[in-house]
Amino acid sequence: MDQTEFIYGGDYNAEQWLDSPDILKQDIEYMKAAHINEVTLGVFSWSTLEPQEGVYHFAWLENLINELYANGISVILSTPSAARPKWLADQYPEVLRVNADRSRNLFGGRHNHCYTSPVYRRKISQIDRKLSERFGKHPAVTTWHISNELSGECHCSYCQAAFQEWLEKKYQTIENLNKAWNTIFWSHDYQNFAQVESPSPKGEMMLHALNLDWKRFVTDQTADFVAWEKKAIREGGSTLPVTINMMYDFTGLNYRKFKDLIDFVSWDNYPVWHKEEEKKTALDTAFQHDFMRSILKKPFLLMESCPTATNWQSVSKLKRPGMLRAASLQAIAHGSDSVQYFQIRQSRGASEKFHGAVIDHYGGMDTRVFREVTEVGSDLLKIKEIVGSDTKAKVAILHDCESRWAMEDAQGPRNKGLHYMDTVMKMYAALRKQGLNVDILDMEDELTDYEIVFAPMLYMFRCGIEEKIREYVKNGGTLVMTYWSGIVNETDLCHLGGTPHQLMDVLGLRSMELDALYDQESNYGIATDEYWAEKKQYECRNFCDLICTDTAETLLMYEKDFYAGYPAFVRNQYGNGKTYYICADFEQDFYDDLCRELVKEKQLNEFVYGLPDGIEVTTRETDTHRYLFVQNFGREAIRMELPDTTYSVLLGGWNDLIEPYDTKVLVKKLIGE
Ligand code: GAL
Ligand code: ZN
Repeated sequence: MDQTEFIYGGDYNAEQWLDSPDILKQDIEYMKAAHINEVTLGVFSWSTLEPQEGVYHFAWLENLINELYANGISVILSTPSAARPKWLADQYPEVLRVNADRSRNLFGGRHNHCYTSPVYRRKISQIDRKLSERFGKHPAVTTWHISNELSGECHCSYCQAAFQEWLEKKYQTIENLNKAWNTIFWSHDYQNFAQVESPSPKGEMMLHALNLDWKRFVTDQTADFVAWEKKAIREGGSTLPVTINMMYDFTGLNYRKFKDLIDFVSWDNYPVWHKEEEKKTALDTAFQHDFMRSILKKPFLLMESCPTATNWQSVSKLKRPGMLRAASLQAIAHGSDSVQYFQIRQSRGASEKFHGAVIDHYGGMDTRVFREVTEVGSDLLKIKEIVGSDTKAKVAILHDCESRWAMEDAQGPRNKGLHYMDTVMKMYAALRKQGLNVDILDMEDELTDYEIVFAPMLYMFRCGIEEKIREYVKNGGTLVMTYWSGIVNETDLCHLGGTPHQLMDVLGLRSMELDALYDQESNYGIATDEYWAEKKQYECRNFCDLICTDTAETLLMYEKDFYAGYPAFVRNQYGNGKTYYICADFEQDFYDDLCRELVKEKQLNEFVYGLPDGIEVTTRETDTHRYLFVQNFGREAIRMELPDTTYSVLLGGWNDLIEPYDTKVLVKKLIGE
């Protein structure tokens, strides 16, 4: 997209106000006052756009788009597929979703459709094509937003047939499938593809490779549905970019598989602010932003966020003054080119009537929320030169959706909790404390751009990651891997001959056994003479991998149990690179000390080793400038010197004191120095 300003706006469900033209008119004035330059229209609008089958009512939308355009407000236009009109469900019951227990849903809710149903596909294609014909070249319309927060699965007969076809394409013969899934166990082998059914609580749930392939199929089928909608848009003549809005830590779909379908990523961010310390919530949100940005490695859009409290979290806490600004600028810091809200105007009825909005039921501009929204809009204008800039990261975390699916589904060493995301977040937190940008990769990505790659609990090795890692380390990369890595192949068959599969020589060790700990248990990693940090012992919980080393040197060893004295953390040299293998689920301090050491060794940080608690530093850059965001998510003001005197201040002033929730944006020229 060719943007010169940050996109600032959000979902505007105008169809709810068509009988109140004064309100619609006034809203536009309010938008302008708040510096809003965009609205997203059409999400869930199907019944207003096509009140009866084949009868299209687009005039209201056209008038609105014209009016917005006349006022300098652009439009992201959504296709209406995420909720369907009653007539469609009544006329064609096949469009309603079938659950895993094989019961068909009644009409209602949203995301309640079969994405395989030929009728559903035909109907959505018709309306999408018409929307594209009518609005695809309208100068106000910049982007297509396909459906909304795609999610869920359908187990109807169409979906079963599509799944069987998908399997046949993948495995060619049923013998191949039986072998890949190890179906001979419990006599579950199939004689032909038509016998295979999707996982069900009434039937097969424990064949992990079936579950895994079903998840892959659901992703592919959902992507196919998006491709179908995109095709209709293109047939209607529009060449505008398309996106889908993704969700927080959503594992129902492998979002990476959408990357060739969309022009940019967008996502909806609803953190539960003020429940725990804001700095924790901020870290969690930062990770999600980085995950989203890393999918296409370019700026994304924050498609939705809430101006104040949502109405669906267990407690609808108001955003404290300043939180909206901090959260919005955090998205920008991590690579967003927009701040958008759900919603511009609050509904009067139905399920989201109490959800926070830019314009609430009172309907005036003299509200705290409106004032804060306006301030954010004005800040975005002040830093608009950042639009389109990149994020450069020298460190990355491998966080693979398919591996996570398999690991979390397996009956394994710790069915009461693997603490996978906790482990990922400990690494992430440690890197962020060093002020580093972090990319979040999956196994299909290249590793060559990074100085250090972290691979926490990489249970499944797929798509040749063994070879990629070997080459990466050989050529000078640093790899940090943990216990429970390289255990299974792509169809969840355990690797024979020792793990981590095909990396034992690279890591200089073999994992022999994995001990799981009860919640109340812990052990310690005790420093050997080779260990560098001041702290000499670290607590560990949940998992203790018992390894035998070959070439690796021991940096920490277990303190107790029958494996006292066994290595708990080791380092190995391979080719020009180094590997570290973490045997146990260590406390945060361990990761902090490790990352500090690695970052120093690789000289990755130009200005600061270790940030004050609560401070986040993030950078974006163009060919000519680097932008440094310094944000305080702590509850205390923090004294901090300008990290580097070659930076000047773009937003927020600098007096060495950063108030809670405050953000400073600095800029430095990169050329001509
Ligand atoms: C999102 C959804 C929006 C709205 C919002 C409320 O998940 O896309 O339509 O429901 O949540 O927070
Ligand atoms: Zn279906």
